[in-house]
Amino acid sequence: MPAGRILAFLAMSCCAAAQTNYNFDESKVQPYTLPDALTLADGQPVRDAATWNDWRRPEILHLFETYEYGRTPSGPYSVRVEVVSTEPALGGLAIRKQIVMHFSSDPAGPKASLLLYIPAAHRGSTPVFLGLNFNGNHTVAADPGIRLNEVWTRQTRQMPDAGTRGNQAQQWQVEKILGRGYALATIYYGDMEPDFDGGIGYGVRPLFFRAGQTEPAAGDWGAIGAWAWGLSRAVDYLEKDPDIDSKKIALMGHSRLGKAALWAGAQDTRFAIVISNESGEGGASLSRRNYGEDLRHLNTAFPHWFSANYHRYTDHEPLLPMDSHMLLALIAPRPLYVASAEEDRGSDPRGEFLAAVNAGPVYALWGKRGIGTDQMPGLHQPVGDTVAYHIRAGKHDVTAYDWDRYLDFADRQLGRRPSDVVR
Ligand code: GCU
Repeated sequence: MPAGRILAFLAMSCCAAAQTNYNFDESKVQPYTLPDALTLADGQPVRDAATWNDWRRPEILHLFETYEYGRTPSGPYSVRVEVVSTEPALGGLAIRKQIVMHFSSDPAGPKASLLLYIPAAHRGSTPVFLGLNFNGNHTVAADPGIRLNEVWTRQTRQMPDAGTRGNQAQQWQVEKILGRGYALATIYYGDMEPDFDGGIGYGVRPLFFRAGQTEPAAGDWGAIGAWAWGLSRAVDYLEKDPDIDSKKIALMGHSRLGKAALWAGAQDTRFAIVISNESGEGGASLSRRNYGEDLRHLNTAFPHWFSANYHRYTDHEPLLPMDSHMLLALIAPRPLYVASAEEDRGSDPRGEFLAAVNAGPVYALWGKRGIGTDQMPGLHQPVGDTVAYHIRAGKHDVTAYDWDRYLDFADRQLGRRPSDVVR
């Protein structure tokens, strides 16, 4: 068996064995104390936005890169951008652009396909939602013009079955987004690195290995870091596309791709809005709250996602020098939306809500209002202002209800009016 396949096989056996005896009993949640986002490492309080930006923000970013996601290399790298097509699509509703970002000069090296739908009727440049997709660009809409990119199953790269076109359309709501005057940009996350233990060999991380390096070192980035890096490379492209208003990029990610969205948004301030849809443990939800998924499961089932340092905190979550409210605070003062689903108990909806609440004091440094209550709202009762939250009925998913809330939020935060939509 070739090495890649052996690793993938081991990954599968590891996942099957991963522990999933999560706590779902609120009365068994242990008391915990969150690290203070507004106290510098030397004990001094942070009282203004300048001290946050100059001192505290870099400290917290450093904690997340050191202990959780790993360090994103700053370069050198060069990306060759190829605009492959620009055509009308979706019955005239959109202009479809397809762009390939070549991450390596080696033709066999990693490359990502960016699918961009722009509302056909638009004036000037349009705001855009950007997000990674799980199963290939062609699954986002039943549009025969979307190029089929090679998609990874757990261990093999395959040309997808054209029959899977549009099979994730419910999660993407392309026509709704376009109808509200927003463009949509998406990339298949496996283009940056296929998602299995051993997938590193096929992705972008080895492009940054030092001479002689064959494995990530303890503080190096994991796959989530690589996915987040790809989102920033999409922004590099969007900044140059005259149809896009690159000051109005709303980044949305679901689940593991919500973790990647939060980490991308924390590092790269070009994302104007960040939306976490059920990102759970290792994303928006508080690790110190022992409810739902824990680090033991995360690091056992997905050993390639985080930095190796994060594994040291398996079963020791309270020892982490930071928690997810501080990750959310790294988005400040930019608008942030955190969303949960009632049946997605593994993501710990209350832990996601409480992290959003506890990011609030950082937003207050700019006079921005956060969630505005520490009482968890009922189903379908969105709360908050610059930081917003909702929990809806149903399972782990992205639904039309979620998109309606994100579109309303983006309109509000970007100051858009119905008259901005060209029909
Ligand atoms: C698993 C994993 C979660 C992750 C989810 C997903 O359930 O345990 O942490 O968010 O997959 O990405 O769908």
